[in-house]
Amino acid sequence: MSKRVKKAVIPAAGLGTRLLPATKTIPKEMLPIVSKPSIQYIVEEAVAAGIEDILIVTGRMKTSMEDYFDYTPALESRLRREGKSETADMLRRTADLASVHYIRQKEPKGLGHAIWCARRFIGNEPFAVLLGDDIMKSEVPVTAQLIAAEREYGGSVVGVKQVAAEQIGKYCSLDVEPMTGNLMRVRSLIEKPRPEQVMSLYAILGRYVLQPEIFDVLENLPAGYGGEIQLTDGINAICGTSGVLACDFKGRRYDTGNIYGYLETVIDFALEDEETSDWLKAFLKQKTAQF
Ligand code: G1P
Repeated sequence: MSKRVKKAVIPAAGLGTRLLPATKTIPKEMLPIVSKPSIQYIVEEAVAAGIEDILIVTGRMKTSMEDYFDYTPALESRLRREGKSETADMLRRTADLASVHYIRQKEPKGLGHAIWCARRFIGNEPFAVLLGDDIMKSEVPVTAQLIAAEREYGGSVVGVKQVAAEQIGKYCSLDVEPMTGNLMRVRSLIEKPRPEQVMSLYAILGRYVLQPEIFDVLENLPAGYGGEIQLTDGINAICGTSGVLACDFKGRRYDTGNIYGYLETVIDFALEDEETSDWLKAFLKQKTAQF
């Protein structure tokens, strides 16, 4: 039986150019979804899936993420002095969420290269990857669904959903054969397919459990789509060796990496948040009456 998945990698070195100018000085991972930055949702999902150590692969201008998962003694004692100890406790809990580690991806060489930067941190065990743009809403954490499949069948597991035909070129496309329940065996996959290259409308949406052999593959991989080292190409190379499963996960995925997806996420999460829900419903009702 393979080792338990205890570590996760969150690649967060991207420049967030689709959300400029907001992301000129703020990492896109720090943009708030209601009252928490989006990176916190990702870290919380990993923790809820049993992950103990998280490596965030960062880049220049991303240090606010490190500050965020640190203690803030001056702020906390001030809050306590002002009788706001619940807020102070909440800040402490956030910093204690997980053991978070950081490494710099020094050059923008793509997602595959960002994951390769984690090789020493991971060592020789299976690990999870959670992409920062993709926030999930699900009963069972999507990462936990993938880990369960890895535990049962071994190999690597990618989280997939079918996307619209006109959208698939923005993702990757998988050639799959049904296996059992919501699991499929992956024969091959291609990053950012042109229309004639689309094999199915199943695309990976931001969640992976990978075997450590991926590192050797990534190390020797030529640049792929966009001149970057693509994680998809690396996974394609291991389909025929240790095997790759696709899990049509149960849950909804939000893409916070573009302005429409970001707004959708904020509105949906605010509609479900105890504190903001009633207020937002009333506000939207009043607004839509004016349209
Ligand atoms: C990345 C991956 C792609 C995946 C997508 C959504 O693309 O390379 O395979 O389908 O995330 O998770 P990006 O959004 O960085 O272009």
